[in-house]
Amino acid sequence: MIDLTPESVQAYLRAAYGEDARLLDLGSIGTLDKQGIKRFGYGKPLLVHFEVGGQRREGVLSIMRGDKYGHQFYWDRAAILMFQYETSARLPRHVRPLGLGYVDEADRLVPVAAPKEFFILNEKLEGYDYFVDLDRIRNGGFRPADVEQARAFARWLAEVHATKKDDADLYYRHVRNLLGASECIMGLVDEAFPHPCEFLPDAAFVALEKRLIDWRWRLRGFSHRLSAVHGDFHPWNVLVDGAGGFSVLDRSRGEWGEPAGDVATMAANYLLFGLLSSPEQGLLAGPFETLWRAFFKEYLERSGDQDCLRAMAPFFVFRALVIVSPEWYPDHPLPVRRALVRFLTHVLEDDIFDWRHVNRYLE
Ligand SMILES: Nc1ncnc2c1ncn2[C@@H]1O[C@H](COP(=O)(O)OP(=O)(O)O)[C@@H](O)[C@H]1O
Ligand SMILES: [Mg+2]
Repeated sequence: MIDLTPESVQAYLRAAYGEDARLLDLGSIGTLDKQGIKRFGYGKPLLVHFEVGGQRREGVLSIMRGDKYGHQFYWDRAAILMFQYETSARLPRHVRPLGLGYVDEADRLVPVAAPKEFFILNEKLEGYDYFVDLDRIRNGGFRPADVEQARAFARWLAEVHATKKDDADLYYRHVRNLLGASECIMGLVDEAFPHPCEFLPDAAFVALEKRLIDWRWRLRGFSHRLSAVHGDFHPWNVLVDGAGGFSVLDRSRGEWGEPAGDVATMAANYLLFGLLSSPEQGLLAGPFETLWRAFFKEYLERSGDQDCLRAMAPFFVFRALVIVSPEWYPDHPLPVRRALVRFLTHVLEDDIFDWRHVNRYLE
């Protein structure tokens, strides 16, 4: 346990910003009740109001919580926060880090000798989580501006992904992690499902992992595609302003990767919210199908990258495993889980992802 007190935050601000730094207020942000259907968050961010040289500032202080997805030890968590501290400012629209430090054995916050736990201090962004909009749409409040918002995400991704890097080994590592990392597919299979699982028998998990090996070897031929990526572009990591603007949080798992991963991540959530809108039907229709189409069409036009559809399937498997998991999403109706299972099984059967006919994978 870490005892995080106003006194320790005050002492940190003095150490980081100088003797005239003063803590004004400390509050919680992004508490569980604001997280909607996604129950299993990593962090517990704290809103920090402070003053330096008479100027008011605010920041968000985050200490990662440990979990069984490869974050059991403080050095696992430190690596992630160091990655975010180093690379976040290089991604347009991403929250800017203000400080990195560790909690020492006396629960002091120290800007990095005797670490016990790491923390990151980020600037405070305006806006609200994008999933709030998706909830509104699910409840019948779809607006034309929602389509424009989805297109804006697609344009931004196309711009980010336009930065390429020639490093085949990093691409192999990215794909290897997609399958084998504790945070990704195999970690989810081991940890995010009961075994046996009501809607996915263990034999089906085994078959899935075997098919993914074929995909790993196929993706080996795509290493020239290595691009700048966000790495976790989902509706809980995007803050929108309700007028088309947005910013992003929680860049993840490396600065470089396969662009199809970011596309699949947001698209999988349009699929999820669509299925939740009419659980019994088990198909994508209505406003979320409109968003799905607008998002794909815009991305493909802007990026010109039709080949991303050749790499997308295993990234959909990863994201579908997250959103179908009873641990991450305890409240889905069974027909929604069954539809997601059909999706993640069938999506691996096509070499090229057929985004225009997504319902083929759901039937
Ligand atoms: N720098 C920030 N500015 C504004 N809001 C933030 C900031 N950091 C986190 N939040 C809010 O807190 C929520 C959870 O924070 P986050 O670090 O993303 O935790 P987790 O990844 O565990 O969900 C976010 O969805 C967002 O609403
Ligand atoms: Mg997050």
